[in-house]
Amino acid sequence: MTTSVSPDLFLPNEKKAWFTHDRFGMFVHWGIYALAARHEWVKSREEIDDANYQKYFDNFDPDLYDPREWARRAREAGMKYVVLTAKHHDGFCLWDSAATDYKATNTPYGKDLLRPFVDAFRAEGLKIGFYYSLPDWHHPDFGIDMYHPLRNRPDAAELNKSRDIKRYAAYMRQQVTELLTGYGKIDIIWFDFSYPERTYNGLPGKGSNDWESLELLKLVRKLAPDIIVNNRLDLETDTPDMVTPEQYTPRTPPLVSGKPVTWEMCQTFSGSWGYYRDEESWKSPAQLLQILIDGVALGGNLLMNVGPTARGTFDQRAIDAFDAYAKWMHLHSRAIYGAGQSTYQAPDGCRFTQKGNRLYVHIYNWPNQYLLLDGLAGRVKYAQFLNDASEVQWPKEGADTHFMPPGGETTLTLLLPVKKPDVVIPVIELILKD
Ligand code: GLC
Repeated sequence: MTTSVSPDLFLPNEKKAWFTHDRFGMFVHWGIYALAARHEWVKSREEIDDANYQKYFDNFDPDLYDPREWARRAREAGMKYVVLTAKHHDGFCLWDSAATDYKATNTPYGKDLLRPFVDAFRAEGLKIGFYYSLPDWHHPDFGIDMYHPLRNRPDAAELNKSRDIKRYAAYMRQQVTELLTGYGKIDIIWFDFSYPERTYNGLPGKGSNDWESLELLKLVRKLAPDIIVNNRLDLETDTPDMVTPEQYTPRTPPLVSGKPVTWEMCQTFSGSWGYYRDEESWKSPAQLLQILIDGVALGGNLLMNVGPTARGTFDQRAIDAFDAYAKWMHLHSRAIYGAGQSTYQAPDGCRFTQKGNRLYVHIYNWPNQYLLLDGLAGRVKYAQFLNDASEVQWPKEGADTHFMPPGGETTLTLLLPVKKPDVVIPVIELILKD
């Protein structure tokens, strides 16, 4: 059952100002599932038991791992913070945890992966977040449930009798303490996920009572008072630090109890979070950019995921995706950082983002010579493309508008070049009158 918690366990907006300003982060899903290269849920999907999953542990040796390279790409792509899977659902830990042997230091690679990661991303100026999985398909005290690899064993319920979730909850607190005390200031903690109502063949789901979420949250607050905590602990509150729509773009800004909240959508380059060799659903540059712009236009953040390979590299498709962001953000980031939802309504085929008196028109469908903006007549001082700071004009009073598409009384009609500027999504910056 969901536990209700007091609002003062959550952050006031001022403490989240950096987050809503920065808008764009990098999600990294990396672990021994990268060797299977067919989804980070492979252990569950294929119902692989510990003995058969062990080959990924025994062969894990990311010899090309260079987090400085990852961090450089993140910075160039315009990403301002990073969230790394310190532990995913398979229970494998990237750091040298004292609470388990199931960690990077015991694989053939033999070294801690987390500290060099944190150092590299900090050096590039990014804020640091850790994803920590609530489910754990390796821990011996984690009860078998509908997602567990052993769920279809006839003796699953029997096996559960010796599994003590209380010991597992204590294990999580020990690990979270390590993560929040051993690596300097951590800015975000991303717990994933709860499913209290989902029962399977009599095996119950898990939620706040199992995770002891309230205690966990109090511990987090004690160790890291300003940290942003996501909303997947199964704790009910009107004031979550952030809500986290996954793999879709909301149509309107998410509300909690009817009120606007800080939110961040998480998305992938290709569908899976972990490295998936044979996936063919990689998004195009325009799609990648639109996901970012769509989110900011609704006042939200984007956490875009990469699944590095088991060699420790980004594959070429991921590099191309980062390049698409880097190229566009180099010229257009001021329409993203510190920007949010506009009070004006964008026309079809466009999105608006706004920062003070700067209104940014992101043009998804290049129109034929005229862009009609309702509600903006007489409101604009100056207009320019962001990619080259070239002026965008509109007809002066008394001009012959006979050959222009008719607008309404409040319509501002911008005169566009026939040829679309050579960027994936052109942006016009409108400087509004005070
Ligand atoms: C889902 C999946 C998981 C992924 C996460 C990211 O909840 O369980 O594999 O880490 O989404 O939001």
